[in-house]
Amino acid sequence: MTALKDHIVRRIGAEGPLGVDQYMAEALAHPELGYYMTGDPLGRAGDFVTAPEVSQMFGELIGLWCAHVWTQMDRPPLVHLVELGPGRGTLMADALRAAAGVEGFLSAAEAHLVEISPALQKRQRRSLKVLAVPVSWHQRFAEVPDAPLLVIANEFLDALPIRQFVRLGEDGADGWAERCVGLDDAGEGLAWVDRDGASPTDLPPALADAPEGALIEVSPQRSKIAAELAAAIAARGGGALLIDYGHMISAPGDTLQAVKGHRYHDVLADPGAADVTAHVDFAAIAAAAMQAGARVSGPLTQGAFLTALGIEARAAQLRDGATPRQAGEILEGLKRLIAPAEMGNLFKVMALSNSRQPAPEGFAT
Ligand SMILES: C[S@@+](CC[C@H](N)C(=O)[O-])C[C@H]1O[C@@H](n2cnc3c(N)ncnc32)[C@H](O)[C@@H]1O
Repeated sequence: MTALKDHIVRRIGAEGPLGVDQYMAEALAHPELGYYMTGDPLGRAGDFVTAPEVSQMFGELIGLWCAHVWTQMDRPPLVHLVELGPGRGTLMADALRAAAGVEGFLSAAEAHLVEISPALQKRQRRSLKVLAVPVSWHQRFAEVPDAPLLVIANEFLDALPIRQFVRLGEDGADGWAERCVGLDDAGEGLAWVDRDGASPTDLPPALADAPEGALIEVSPQRSKIAAELAAAIAARGGGALLIDYGHMISAPGDTLQAVKGHRYHDVLADPGAADVTAHVDFAAIAAAAMQAGARVSGPLTQGAFLTALGIEARAAQLRDGATPRQAGEILEGLKRLIAPAEMGNLFKVMALSNSRQPAPEGFAT
């Protein structure tokens, strides 16, 4: 048993079952034992590979997207380039290298990284030490100082906790039970239990009529950050790019998953030693952001978005002068990022922007 599982079993013994949100918060962000607090899970030797680690083209195109939004804002002399959950800092490094080609952007930009993991903060410091822009770190988005904003969040929202509810049967009328993590019969291991009497808050209208037995997911924490970003962009100007695996329309279904060593893993088996995430409901994110005053563009599939930004031309440019082996890797990266059967369809991209600015690049109006 992992040390964290032992802690969770004792906590449930003392307090009763944990909501999935509480379980995810322990599994990922327990201050000493949480998955993200102890090491670097990214890359081939880790548990999963993200888009910026697949190819430099991903971060480069996002950097150019940001610089374009900055020009749409009439080039403010200070802009905060914020990344939520920056992993190894690869996306930010590639983005700034590409955006350096847009005159004046680097002199205006300050990088602000929102990262809870001390281990990954160290890794980010290494990736970003050669950059010609000031960099600072924060625990929460709310700590980023006031200025026009460009926000990037790739595979960040999926790590924020969700709650799960099951629509009750006939005698429960129109009620719900919350799916929770409790103890098994021996009281020593973890098991799924349902807790009656709890109802979902922030329920998307499309889920209100879920049929008996349906499992639905809500995430007040994701809606809260979407509303915070939207309100800040509406007040200060700028844009945000939210990229993640998920669905465009709210629908019932269990998307909670654990990944370890590049394979799916039992969600309750090894808290602290496996990544635990859930797909993002982009319709819920859009509703929260619009209500807080931002323009919402998309979501598009990642394949459509990167193609609109010109990833194929960039791949061709990189292949010019590359060795045959490098050219093969560039093509492999391109395919991985945009092919429908790979990341191209599963991942979605949504932009938030200030409605006084022109619509952001890549999204047909
Ligand atoms: C799946 S990784 C994605 C990393 C990076 N964006 C990439 O694409 O390679 C999730 C990142 O979010 C960070 N993270 C998770 N929960 C967080 C939270 N509540 N606040 C800030 N960062 C968080 C993790 O430490 C990690 O850097």
